[in-house]
Amino acid sequence: MLRTLGVTIPGLDPFLIEEVGKLLGRDAKGVVPGKVEFSAEPEEILRLNYTSRTAIRFLILVSREVLDPISLESVKRVASSVEWSSFFSPTSTFAVRAERVGYHDFTSVEVAATVGEAVVEHFSSLGTRIRANLRRPDVVIRTYVSGNLLLLGLDTTGKSLHRRGYRIFEHRTSLNPVIAYSLVELSGWLDSLSEDPTSVLVDPMCGGGTIPIEAVLAALRIPPGRWRRNYPVEHLIPFRGISQGEIFDREDSHIVDRDLNVICSDVSPKSIRGAEENARSAGIYEKIQFHVRDAGELATLDRISSVATDPPYELRTGRNRRIGKTFRDMALALEEKLERRFSAICAGPALPKLMSAMRNLSLVYNRRILYGGIEARLLAYERRGSR
Ligand SMILES: C[S@@+](CC[C@H](N)C(=O)[O-])C[C@H]1O[C@@H](n2cnc3c(N)ncnc32)[C@H](O)[C@@H]1O
Repeated sequence: MLRTLGVTIPGLDPFLIEEVGKLLGRDAKGVVPGKVEFSAEPEEILRLNYTSRTAIRFLILVSREVLDPISLESVKRVASSVEWSSFFSPTSTFAVRAERVGYHDFTSVEVAATVGEAVVEHFSSLGTRIRANLRRPDVVIRTYVSGNLLLLGLDTTGKSLHRRGYRIFEHRTSLNPVIAYSLVELSGWLDSLSEDPTSVLVDPMCGGGTIPIEAVLAALRIPPGRWRRNYPVEHLIPFRGISQGEIFDREDSHIVDRDLNVICSDVSPKSIRGAEENARSAGIYEKIQFHVRDAGELATLDRISSVATDPPYELRTGRNRRIGKTFRDMALALEEKLERRFSAICAGPALPKLMSAMRNLSLVYNRRILYGGIEARLLAYERRGSR
């Protein structure tokens, strides 16, 4: 078993912890916002890379230390105590990438250089020589410094897992698919399908369709790594002799085909055309109903089991005078027809407008997430008295 670090967007940790529990049947625990630790076999780490919908990266965790004081010297001491040669050989090239959160009297570039030095010295002490290659390394060592905490890990993911590969139309404010999936989870729609296969999921402001597409992929158990099928572990000793293709084929064999009720609408015809292109590229076009429609017309739907949506925040897109009225009209429809939950991500000036419009529903989830440098909220509402 390897100590493993799952990385996600700060605030989505509970979703990743739950997903690791479901996929591996093992407990994961939060380390710092956006990082969770658990144990896994190398095959399981590959399976997670291929199937996780809530993570952006998985690492073999080689060290986790609280340092007091944290300094370049104490970082060097910890990095020098790692048996790097049990994870990769000196015939591989390596690079260290460092991130830092908090106040320190050193930079992340200095942290990376310090860890790099420790790696070179480790191999020299064994009478060998390893080369760094910052542009195209075989092995990437990731270092996170958060306050007094130092995490050292070996990357097993490469390009971030949120880059799913099916997206060909990029909406100007497209949502990270990891958040899109978490909203679907929060809406209760996936859970409802086992009791009610006709359950209806609506995204009335769907833009390029990320939320409905992630919902359908999950409902059909289509692995989000299907457009990639390769992770950079060939230079990591614990992964020797493992066939990635066999692991992924086994996961693909769980894909199901079923009818679904997923509605994707937006007031912009261009967005709907883009959402259709993205759904076609993901191979699930016929599973989604697309409409050019104002979100204020939600009441025209016969049934609304769950809603998961990502409205404009009025940050990059500027003031939207009609948004308050749209939210109020949506809320009236939900007060009458919502069966499960309404979930949304919101931020900026639109957030108080959305929360005020939803005041006659019960707020059952309200969590801060850090997304693209802005502080956003994940919200979920139910109809009053529906529990
Ligand atoms: C933040 S974007 C959604 C992005 C989407 N989640 C994605 O990943 O591409 C918000 C969307 O709300 C749509 N919108 C704004 N006002 C609307 C309204 N009154 N009715 C329906 N859609 C609206 C915009 O056209 C925009 O596509």
